[in-house]
Amino acid sequence: MDNHSTASNSQSNSQYYTRTAQVLHWVMALIFIVAWGIGFYSGNFLSYDVDGSFKGDVITLHKNIATTIIFLVLIRIFWRYTHPAPKLPDTMSPLMQKLAHVGHLMLYLILLALPITGCLFSWSAGHPAPVLYLFEIPRLVQDNPELLAIVKPIHIYLSWFAGLLIVGHAAAALKHHFIDGDHVLRSMLKQR
Ligand code: HEM
Repeated sequence: MDNHSTASNSQSNSQYYTRTAQVLHWVMALIFIVAWGIGFYSGNFLSYDVDGSFKGDVITLHKNIATTIIFLVLIRIFWRYTHPAPKLPDTMSPLMQKLAHVGHLMLYLILLALPITGCLFSWSAGHPAPVLYLFEIPRLVQDNPELLAIVKPIHIYLSWFAGLLIVGHAAAALKHHFIDGDHVLRSMLKQR
């Protein structure tokens, strides 16, 4: 499981992410894509005037799926901290390695910021932040139109930025695999 990595090393000796990191990565990728698609559909193709309670149900589904990201990203940050990532290929220039690290940091930050702004959006509009139809995240703010006017556009713009970031991330992984022919994509798929 551990692939010889230790918390004291900044980079793992293994070429592969641990199985736990791989599962977290692909589960979160799936949840992100589904949550993004549902949010986009509701925000851009449904209106309360025409679609009535159906829009409410779709937004509720969006929230129930998307709130899981908060828990998963916290576990993931802990795991990343205690299980260093594999080294990037030596064929990458120092600048490209730096850009990859900055990109990954931005992905972590946006995976925190999106569900947090989503919850604030929901609470300030007077609604709960439910998780998998099982429980609700304790409300940190009450109905608040002033806060709503701030967090709503932030959530929407962040969601667009996150979509672009994820597309760029996936494109980079595919370039590594098909053009550069290195181990970067395989490191998130296989064990040795
Ligand atoms: C990784 C997590 C999330 C992603 C990727 C995401 C993505 C999106 C997207 C793409 C939209 C549509 C933006 C547009 O109108 O163009 C949206 C809207 C929305 N999101 Fe999220 N979101 C996330 C988390 C959350 C959470 C946790 C909540 C609340 C608990 C939430 C509440 C909302 C609400 C209320 C809307 C407005 C929908 C509408 O107006 O029909 N989101 N989100």
